[in-house]
Formats: sequence, structure tokens, C-alpha cells
Amino acid sequence: MTGRAAVLAGLGVYAPPKVVTNDDLAADLDTSDEWITTRTGIRERRVADADLATTDLATEAGARALKSAGVDQVDAVLLGTTTPDRICPASAPEVATRLGLTHAAACDVSAACTSFVYGLANGTGLIAAGIAERVLVIGAETIFRFMDPQDRTTSVLFGDGAGAAVLRAGRPDEPGALGPFDLGSDGSLADMLAVDAGGSRLWGPDIPREAHFLRMDGREVYRHAVQRMVASSQQVLDRLGWGIEDVDRLVGHQANARILEAVGQRLGVPAERCHINVGRYGNTSAASIPLALGDAELAAGQRVLLTAFGAGFTWGSTALVWPHIDVI
Ligand code: ACO
Repeated sequence: MTGRAAVLAGLGVYAPPKVVTNDDLAADLDTSDEWITTRTGIRERRVADADLATTDLATEAGARALKSAGVDQVDAVLLGTTTPDRICPASAPEVATRLGLTHAAACDVSAACTSFVYGLANGTGLIAAGIAERVLVIGAETIFRFMDPQDRTTSVLFGDGAGAAVLRAGRPDEPGALGPFDLGSDGSLADMLAVDAGGSRLWGPDIPREAHFLRMDGREVYRHAVQRMVASSQQVLDRLGWGIEDVDRLVGHQANARILEAVGQRLGVPAERCHINVGRYGNTSAASIPLALGDAELAAGQRVLLTAFGAGFTWGSTALVWPHIDVI
């Protein structure tokens, strides 16, 4: 590989302190710790207090990533989120300003649970094109509040959190260089996983209550998530010329432990190399990959495969050799 690459220079993670366990949810909902743990692997999730919005979590994770990278300025901030503070404006400019990034371009990246991987790809593009030397890519969500508290099929699955990465211009053969990327989408399945209200199609005072909450066809999402993450991962491996034995760690979007186990099995990655932290955080959507990278205890030199799938549908994968960085 030749040319300019985007290199991972720092990683920061933040989850709000409030823990909501399965038993806490079962106190008000017809569900149980046993059902949730068996079907999803989720034991607890973090939930942001009502006075915290996505920019608050994103700013904290962004500050930690800047510290991890040892930099105080970047050229662009890309905020991956499904739960921006407002429909307009985007949340990234506010985060950039609060971080003191006075000269940074800033915009949101909206690809649901794939947003962080799409953000990494967009950041890589800005760097490769010479538009930016450094990019801060954030994934942050306050998604728990978008669950209907009366809907046990969704409210047990999600949690809040944030993670952020600083990318810098570098060489493709350096540890930390990202790529190649495989990205895809299928809008014909948009209806499978959606929040219907608040956009231009359903707006105004007469919207039914349920339209403000996330709804999902769980079985279809499950099926497509496994298929797409496997095929997308394989694309990246093929382009790199890596075999499965070359993958030291598979860090997938943390939707559900069963999905991640199925992806690992179909790819042939042994279970001990598949990092799963969904038990502690639930599905944090755009934040899940950076949160998972944050506690995977990766060692410099390990070859890491990232893969994600989300509403849209969208999917994306990439890989890197883990660099010497301190996660904060
Ligand atoms: N507690 C108790 N019972 C429940 C709950 C719950 N929280 N949720 C559903 N059930 C019941 C259902 O009502 C159903 O009851 P019935 O047989 O009487 O009708 C029964 O459990 C089985 O329901 P299924 O939907 O068939 O359960 P399944 O084994 O498919 O598991 C799940 C459901 C966990 C949602 C699964 O389909 C799944 O993991 N899907 C993927 C969805 C996902 O992870 N989405 C995350 C967002 S998308 C993304 O990030 C990619």
C-alpha cells in the first residue's frame, strides 16, 4: 500500500455512571434477568441522567481521546450518532467548540450502529485527500431514552455511552494505519429498525406516542446482522490478504452476544479472540465499537478486525494493527 494513511493516535471512552441492571428493568416490565441474559448476553447497561444529552457524553469521550493522543487541535470532528441533541443543527459543532477545537470542521455521521466505522472511513478519506492532518472521530449515544419503557422487545437491549478516536496522517505500513474499508447499505430494509417521528415524513403535534420510540423486527435484524458482518469482514480480510489465523481480535458491533458469537463462528475466529462486552453496556449503537476497543486490552502489534451493522441497513468493516496508545 502506498500514499497517505489515517493512523490511530489516541482513544478515549466514557460511559455515564448510572447502572441499570436487568432486575431493575424487570421491576417494571414483564421480563427477567434470565430471559435477557440467555437471549442477549446483556446483564446491565449505563443510562445517562435526563439532564445529559449526547453532546455531553461525546465531549467527555472526545476530551479523553485528545489527551490519549497528546494533541489539543484537530482539523475535523466527525460525530457518529443516532441520537443527536437536535434535528438541527448537527451536534458535532457544539462538541468541537466545547473541546476548544476552534478551527475544526464539524459534522455528524448518521449510519446508526455503523456510524463509528463510517466515521473512521470518512476521517480516513479527509486525511488521504490532504484535507485534514488530524481528525477526531466520535461515536456517542443517549439511546436508552428512545426505547418505549413498555416495550420489552427493545428496552432491554440498549444503553448509553461514548467513545472517540484521534486519527493522524501517516504511512500505510505503520501500526495503527486503518484500512481497507468495506462499507455498504440496503435502504429497502429501512423499515426493519426505525424511529419514525421527528423527521420530515412524520412531524407535528398529532404524532402517536409510539412513533417517538425505536421499533424493530428483532429476528430479521439478527439474520441480516450476522450475514452482513460476516461478508463485510471477509471482504476486508481478502483485500488485506489476511487469513482467519491472522486475526488476533475480532471487535464487532456489540448488539447481542449471540450475534457476535455467530459472526465469529461463521468466520472461523475462535471464541477467545472475539471481544464481547455487551454484558456490561448493552447495545450502545455508534459508541459500541470504541467502547469495546477501550476494554479489549489490546496489545501493540495485535491485528484487529472491526465490523458493524445497523439500521438503514448499513454495515462496514476495517482492520488495523494495534498501535502503542494509552486508552483513557
Ligand atoms: N423478556 C421476556 N420475553 C420477551 C422479551 C423480553 N425482554 N422480549 C421478547 N420476549 C418474548 C416475545 O414476546 C416472544 O414471546 P412469544 O413466543 O410468547 O410471542 C418470545 O420472547 C420470543 O421472542 P423472539 O423475538 O422470537 O425472541 P428471540 O429469540 O428472537 O430474541 C432478540 C429476541 C433478542 C431481540 C433477538 O431477535 C435479537 O437479538 N435480534 C437482534 C436485534 C438486535 O440486537 N438489535 C439491536 C439493534 S440493531 C443493531 O444494533 C444491529
